Amino acid sequence: MKPAALRPYKPLPTDVEGQQKPSQPRSRGLKRTAFRIVAVVALMVMLLSGVRHVSRIALPRCKGGRLYQNITSLPSHYTLPSGDKIPSVALGVWQAGKNEVGKAVETALKAGYRHIDGAWIYRNEAEVGQALNKSGVKREDVWITSKLWNSFHAPEDIESTLDDSLAKLGTDYLDLYLIHWPVAQKSGKPYDKTLTENPYPTWQKLEEMVEKGKVRNIGVSNFNIRRLENLTANPLKIRPAVNQVEISYWVPQVELIKWAKEHDLLLEAYSPLGSTGRVGETLAVPEVKEIAQELGMTPAQVVISWHVQRGYVVLPKSVTPSRVEENVHVRALPPALFEKLETAATSHKPYPRLNPSRGWGLDFDIFD
Ligand SMILES: NC(=O)c1ccc[n+]([C@@H]2O[C@H](COP(=O)([O-])OP(=O)(O)OC[C@H]3O[C@@H](n4cnc5c(N)ncnc54)[C@H](OP(=O)(O)O)[C@@H]3O)[C@@H](O)[C@H]2O)c1
Repeated sequence: MKPAALRPYKPLPTDVEGQQKPSQPRSRGLKRTAFRIVAVVALMVMLLSGVRHVSRIALPRCKGGRLYQNITSLPSHYTLPSGDKIPSVALGVWQAGKNEVGKAVETALKAGYRHIDGAWIYRNEAEVGQALNKSGVKREDVWITSKLWNSFHAPEDIESTLDDSLAKLGTDYLDLYLIHWPVAQKSGKPYDKTLTENPYPTWQKLEEMVEKGKVRNIGVSNFNIRRLENLTANPLKIRPAVNQVEISYWVPQVELIKWAKEHDLLLEAYSPLGSTGRVGETLAVPEVKEIAQELGMTPAQVVISWHVQRGYVVLPKSVTPSRVEENVHVRALPPALFEKLETAATSHKPYPRLNPSRGWGLDFDIFD
């Protein structure tokens, strides 16, 4: 019998470096390929579920956990020239009445607020102080702002009214003390024209309060650009760290925001929801409602987020527990939606702002 012809060996497969690799049985090769496909699919599933998990944590109110492009997070704090970090959202307590302001402060601290915006003239500092002290939150973990009322601008009156605020708040220092209005007027007397026009003596006394450790930062409120320039033309030891002014959808303050950025002055927005008289109208603005619907946020959260995204502190007031909680949950609006609200806020007709000049019988306009 003729022996079977020997089949020639196939040449071994050659790799890129020209070295020969031993050949493998066909079934083992198939198994490897199948294993690789399964591994890749498993990896992709793990990656996708990871992304969904992260988006759920980072974007809790995103409709359906949808991931928006270019989302950046909002600042939780701003750093002042002193190096102190001021929380970007505060609970405002103007018009927060007796037996309700303390509860609002308690709710706020539980909800995560660490910034209370008050004033001597709000006449509720004692109740705010009691709530702060019984909360168990450490003093150094809460930012407390108070304001110097118009009747006490004369240097000799400042320390005693500050001490009164400190005693009522139950603390030995304020994080921030502001000149409440650019009007120096002792009770029952005509306003002091010289001190109103140039509050340098008032400011020097405030600087002394910083040196004494009773106040950590000083600033102003309701100052327009002219008044800011007048004050800072003096040889100040400490420049104003903050200017607290009305800023809302109705009073967007574009010029002042630009000036403040150029001059490293932090703004704080009061009446950010339009105050009691206009909050309903603000929350019904079509753009606000549309954005809220799109992002699964409430209209108030959209407005408060928009404020922080514009680069300043925002001070919404509420004594309603659910609203206090609601208002602290802010997050960045996607750029296109932010622009949509910014355009709407800066292109409507001008609205009147809070201006007590007439009510206080002044012969000048505070904002001139
Ligand atoms: N420096 C100054 O001269 C000056 C002047 C004005 C104000 N401020 C400061 O700024 C803070 C805020 O200003 P503001 O009180 O005039 O106005 P705001 O915060 O714009 O509006 C407060 C009003 O909005 C309501 N509200 C709050 N959250 C809401 C929500 N999520 N949904 C629906 N309604 C809501 C409040 O009702 P409820 O309380 O009933 O919930 C209240 O009627 C003041 O408390 C004060 O600290 C400073």
